[in-house]
Amino acid sequence: MNKGEMLYEGKAKRVYATDDPDLLIVSYKDDATAFNGLKKGTIAGKGVINNQMSNALMRLLEKKGVPTHFVEELNERETLVKKVQIVPLEVIIRNIAAGSFSKHYGVTEGTLLKAPTIEFSYKNDDLGDPLINEYHVIALDLASKEEIETIKTYAFRVNEELKAFWLTCGVTLVDFKLEFGRLSDGTIVLADEISPDTCRLWDSKTNEKLDKDRFRRDLGGVEEAYQEIMSRLESHIG
Ligand code: TMP
Ligand code: ASP
Repeated sequence: MNKGEMLYEGKAKRVYATDDPDLLIVSYKDDATAFNGLKKGTIAGKGVINNQMSNALMRLLEKKGVPTHFVEELNERETLVKKVQIVPLEVIIRNIAAGSFSKHYGVTEGTLLKAPTIEFSYKNDDLGDPLINEYHVIALDLASKEEIETIKTYAFRVNEELKAFWLTCGVTLVDFKLEFGRLSDGTIVLADEISPDTCRLWDSKTNEKLDKDRFRRDLGGVEEAYQEIMSRLESHIG
């Protein structure tokens, strides 16, 4: 598959056209940002880890009945994916209070929630990705009612499957962010990435953070945490 022109460069990935109008190549960078781009840095080896981890988890989710954009891993940093129109929502699922949830609702980080929660942010950097509810999503014509239902069903299924998988690795899935897209026929599929950039992953015994919070909060050992979480995944993925 030939890599064509670069169509888009985001904070962590570049997207290229291919010979096939329905397929794109995603290339993962080592660049890291936080707080809507205010904090910038590099995490050596992150692109390789995020590419391989996201692909492994998407293959697992496909097997469990969640359709994804994943087609084929091309090399360490690049993956062939189905072209989608991204639904401009960050879909966030939480099992344990942390981050903005702890701040908004005054809940100590690490508190187990009585039930998993879902929330939506409007993907818009100029506005700082504001939280929105389902009525806002419909009013702003970001997704239809049916699409929201599909997205919620898939997001909670992803949570159950990933929670169970990470548990086998001795890792607690605290929360994560998903993005969905529409194929040309309108089918909703899971898109973007699932990685330590987009999930909170804590060692089950010590609650040590093995994700991007080490970068966001200047905790040190960032590269080591990405390597540790990847090696746990590699020794447990089927
Ligand atoms: P939050 O607690 O900061 O709202 O983050 C919730 C989850 O979403 C956490 O796992 C990190 C992830 N996340 C992203 O992937 N992208 C973002 O832009 C933000 C703010 C969070
Ligand atoms: N929002 C992303 C994060 O904190 C990156 C960014 O905001 O620049 O994970």
